[in-house]
Amino acid sequence: MEWDPEQYDKFRAAREQPFADVAGLVDGLRVRRVVDLGCGPGNLTRKLAEKFRDADIVGIDSSPAMLAQAAPLGGLHLRFAQATIEEFADGLAVDGDFDLIFSNAALHWVPDHERLIPKLVGRLGLEGQLAVQLPADDYNPARVIFSDVAGWRHQMGTLDIAQYAELLNAAGLEELTVFEKIYPHILRDADAVLEWAKGTALLPYLERLPPAQHAHYLDEVRRRLHAKYTGRPVFFPFRRIIFYGRRA
Ligand SMILES: C[S@@+](CC[C@H](N)C(=O)[O-])C[C@H]1O[C@@H](n2cnc3c(N)ncnc32)[C@H](O)[C@@H]1O
Repeated sequence: MEWDPEQYDKFRAAREQPFADVAGLVDGLRVRRVVDLGCGPGNLTRKLAEKFRDADIVGIDSSPAMLAQAAPLGGLHLRFAQATIEEFADGLAVDGDFDLIFSNAALHWVPDHERLIPKLVGRLGLEGQLAVQLPADDYNPARVIFSDVAGWRHQMGTLDIAQYAELLNAAGLEELTVFEKIYPHILRDADAVLEWAKGTALLPYLERLPPAQHAHYLDEVRRRLHAKYTGRPVFFPFRRIIFYGRRA
């Protein structure tokens, strides 16, 4: 998938609150080794490095464009590596156990969380913490438009919150916190909804279309977004799941 760090960054402030909510759950004591799965442009991984000053932190991502943006943010205790989340879960990328496995707005790109979550827990050290935030807005009206125009639906990997609680418990994690939260974004107008989605949710649809058809697809999406979101500004509630647990 062709990620564009500049497009993604246009809504940086709105995307930071969920990060703060999930990072706020982590107990900073004895956090020495941290991985940030799907670190993207690295600015939030850098915030983790500022929060956990004694830790060695590695951000992994599959996108070379995102990693190119992240690279200059690296330092003595912060580095970035190209790898998939699946490879990490299978123990094929970045050796060793982790005190904190963190992921913000990335795990929904990976399918089969019933298998993924136990594997991630398997990479935690004793008292290691797993802290994840991921979108849960499959039926947001804008997403329905994207799939209706495309004629197929991209399925996020996200499960129901109750399933995450079950999975974390079955994997042996304690101190569970699992909740769903609406982030009430206010976007300028219908075009801003399109701009937001161009950085993330539209990528799977654009990827399947020949580049020559992108403009036609986006024009039709824009037309339907304007029909749906007629006011200014647009209230754009965004549903996300946050889950946290700690290895006993
Ligand atoms: C929406 S961005 C989130 C970036 C960052 N965590 C943040 O909160 O700003 C999602 C990132 O996940 C990465 N990604 C998607 N699927 C991945 C996978 N299977 N393995 C590794 N990275 C993946 C993308 O390349 C992208 O950089």
